[in-house]
Amino acid sequence: MSALASIRISDNQIEIVNQLLLPHTTEWLKIDTIDQAHNAIKTMKIRGAPAIGSLAGLTFAQHIARALTADPTPDFLSSPEALKGHVTPLLDHLFTARPTAVNLGAATRLLARTLQAGIDAGKDTRAIGADLVAAGKSVAEEDVGRNKAMGRLGGEWLSEFAKKAGGSGEGLNVLTVCNTGSLATSGYGTALGLITYLHETGKLGRAYYTQTAPYHQGSRLTALELKTLQIPSTMIVDTMVGSLFQHFPIHGVAVGADRIARNGDTANKIGTYNSAVLAARHGIPFIVVAPITTVDLDIESGASIPIEHRPPIEACIVRGALYPPSRDAQGNKEQAAVMITPEGLDGIYNPSFDVTPAELITAIVTEKGVAVKGIDGKFDLSPIV
Ligand code: MRU
Repeated sequence: MSALASIRISDNQIEIVNQLLLPHTTEWLKIDTIDQAHNAIKTMKIRGAPAIGSLAGLTFAQHIARALTADPTPDFLSSPEALKGHVTPLLDHLFTARPTAVNLGAATRLLARTLQAGIDAGKDTRAIGADLVAAGKSVAEEDVGRNKAMGRLGGEWLSEFAKKAGGSGEGLNVLTVCNTGSLATSGYGTALGLITYLHETGKLGRAYYTQTAPYHQGSRLTALELKTLQIPSTMIVDTMVGSLFQHFPIHGVAVGADRIARNGDTANKIGTYNSAVLAARHGIPFIVVAPITTVDLDIESGASIPIEHRPPIEACIVRGALYPPSRDAQGNKEQAAVMITPEGLDGIYNPSFDVTPAELITAIVTEKGVAVKGIDGKFDLSPIV
């Protein structure tokens, strides 16, 4: 079975799969403008740290590429200063779509740096424009190869860990949170890549995944990916992690990351911290799997990671695609939302991410290697970034 995709480009047209409608409806949305990309990211039509960085880079590249071939030439290409005046607010706008995943800021900062470098080097506007197109595309050239590398490194590490604990290193049961598969990346996935690798090498017993309320990335997206890949799996409700650990042999928890601080503190989907606390209580290794680009060496600890709070209403509804799919009066496919609270609650706490302290993390895996804590109890991430 082929894996799912979040972004596709055909005839120079960017399209994203509307992840709000999955799993029952596959709707491809055209992305033509920076504002459409901003909106798609903010409203979670596309999500997952690498995927949102990729969409930002590609849309920006598309915007500049179209301007370079437009007739008449847009005014903002009249001088490098005019280009800067045009581009800077667009990058600022894209950056504000979601704050926690480092990838979005990294993409907009790369583009701003590329622009300034071109100006400082005295390049003409068209040359700077070409540099911007290349830089925007490069953000999305995140290759499947790096995800496969971290899946293999993390999978082998977990298998060895299980052997040292007296097991066979096979039949491994692994819990994951949220969705970190091909819908969140360019393919194969990060934590879900580790699970896929174990499955491909005959070392997986079963994958377990939380529903991941309130957006249900687990029950809608991870469920779909695991089903598509025919990986044996069991869904649990978020509140069942403790019960799972009490009643089933779970050999590891593998999660992705939106941002990893220099000390190893990791921001990831809300609920990740809960599973880390419970994993520590049960002596289960807790593994963070993420590309090097998710490590933010500018941030010393998780205390400096900005945490996105989603609109309160999103915690008051259960969302999902209508089944069977239906259309509204304008012919748009609809998303079902069922209110599960009384109207007008005034106290709703709805952070989209939490920070798992490095203390609770057993290993951090990137495409370059696996970091574990030293005898001082601290991570040294330098060998894996
Ligand atoms: O709010 P989301 O769905 O964008 O959150 C996604 C996550 O938290 C993922 O675990 C993370 O981005 C890593 S995706 C490889």
